[in-house]
Amino acid sequence: MIIRDFRLSDIDDVLAIEYEAFSDPYPVDILLQLYESGAGFAVAEIGKRVVGYIIFWIRGGIGHIIAIAVNSNYRNMHVGSLLLEKTIKVFLSNNINIIGLEVRKSNTSAINFYLKHGFVKIREEDNYYGDGETAIIMNYTKSENN
Ligand SMILES: CC(C)(COP(=O)(O)OP(=O)(O)OC[C@H]1O[C@@H](n2cnc3c(N)ncnc32)[C@H](O)[C@@H]1OP(=O)(O)O)[C@@H](O)C(=O)NCCC(=O)NCCS
Repeated sequence: MIIRDFRLSDIDDVLAIEYEAFSDPYPVDILLQLYESGAGFAVAEIGKRVVGYIIFWIRGGIGHIIAIAVNSNYRNMHVGSLLLEKTIKVFLSNNINIIGLEVRKSNTSAINFYLKHGFVKIREEDNYYGDGETAIIMNYTKSENN
């Protein structure tokens, strides 16, 4: 498996993963807008097949995971871990020592995944998602993981 930067030719694979993974997927124009506006965008590739991706950015000195998803046939094989670990390294090497994200309260597999990677629950935000679901706000801080 390799992790590499997203290329425009990956968009169909990324969209397929996005629409499979989320009930409220980002449409193609938002994904392309994120890419064009300079967000970090990496994919995991196994045998020329894109099986996962991560989108992230840095705003006001804080890193943010915007989206991460893995093709369901390739989950629990550490694809997501590799994507997240590489992204954490990118943040830390840019002296970004706090990383935040939001995750649906019902998404226990993703919450466990983030906990495993050193994120901690900070607070809940009611009505965060369009369907009214609560978000769990999680942070990774360098000082707590070194
Ligand atoms: C969350 C997601 C990206 C994780 O990717 P993945 O490649 O399956 O994760 P990994 O195989 O690297 O899992 C690493 C660890 O996370 C935890 N984990 C992953 N999936 C889990 C599950 N379904 N239940 C419990 N723990 C889980 C495990 O502890 C696992 O550790 P271990 O197997 O080493 O003990 C993937 O499940 C996914 O695409 N989900 C749908 C999209 C999504 O919810 N994204 C996050 C939204 S904020």
